[in-house]
Amino acid sequence: MTRTHPKPDIDAITGGRRFRRLRRAEWSRRMVRETHLTTSDLIWPVFVIDGVNRKEPIASMPGVFRLSLDLAVAEVERAAALGIPAVAVFPNVDMALRDATGSAILRDDNLINRATRAIKAAVPHIGVITDVALDPFTSHGHDGILKDGIILNDETVDVIAHAAILQAAAGADVIAPSDMMDGRIGAIRQALDGAGMNDVPILSYATKFASAFYGPYREAVGTDKTLKGDKKTYYIDPANTDEAVREAAQDVAEGADMLMVKPGLPYLDIIQRLKGEFQMPVFAYQVSGEYAMVRAAAERGWIDGGRIMMETLLAFKRAGCDGILTYFALEAAEELKRQNG
Ligand code: PBG
Repeated sequence: MTRTHPKPDIDAITGGRRFRRLRRAEWSRRMVRETHLTTSDLIWPVFVIDGVNRKEPIASMPGVFRLSLDLAVAEVERAAALGIPAVAVFPNVDMALRDATGSAILRDDNLINRATRAIKAAVPHIGVITDVALDPFTSHGHDGILKDGIILNDETVDVIAHAAILQAAAGADVIAPSDMMDGRIGAIRQALDGAGMNDVPILSYATKFASAFYGPYREAVGTDKTLKGDKKTYYIDPANTDEAVREAAQDVAEGADMLMVKPGLPYLDIIQRLKGEFQMPVFAYQVSGEYAMVRAAAERGWIDGGRIMMETLLAFKRAGCDGILTYFALEAAEELKRQNG
């Protein structure tokens, strides 16, 4: 082949600026690294069931199990030993205890409250975050009270505010409402303060999108069998970003202490915007479908699951997250321990 173009003069083209200088050696890459993932960034969501010594696999979430409280406590002990600051508890409630209004959420001795008590008794120094939502307790799988095909807003908020008091009384360190009803943050704040629980912070699932990424979670808590219809009348349309900012602003005004974006990776733009607008602690929920996709591709040998896990978690930090709820938490903490010696 005869040359048809002149040999490029790269120094003339770049003005002598060469980014690769700092990428040559590991020590140098490490020295200029802008973002770091630490174990303190990880929050572990744990699924609990009744019974003793029970460990049920979740088909769409390989490596994740529903655990009876004795086993859950042991795993939380392991999480604490690894340096994970907090866990988020999600119950798979016995189908016989689910009803149209989700009434079991108002029982002091329901599964989520017993789980909180068991964890706080055994591992008092780990934070327990509870999702105050009706879906694991309702016979129709919705996060609200359903009447004539409509999710009732104000009635649902009233129940959730009451449930929040019970959860905090059981020892929950952070109340995290995930239902997306209007006015819930202010109502929960009022309820907690009225019960003398002024110190209990609220982590608002401020921007929760009507997403298909929640599928495997619904298998985990059993709402795959119960859910009728979809949640588009109360979760945010995945197309909307200004609306997400206004929703978060409202939650901040009503008293949210921390904000969450959910799902995670497909919504990094929202994370970046919220961090910029509010300068508040912002968390991402790397949800079940995100976890399942990484696991499934890794099982087929199509991707390096371990490296992709760490890369996705780092992406959340780069976008501005203060922490990540992730089913990878234990595995990632173990990997960080290996890396840091
Ligand atoms: C509902 C709730 C959802 C998740 C946690 N709480 C969504 C839903 O079922 O609609 C999803 C978590 C995940 O997918 O990992 N209150």
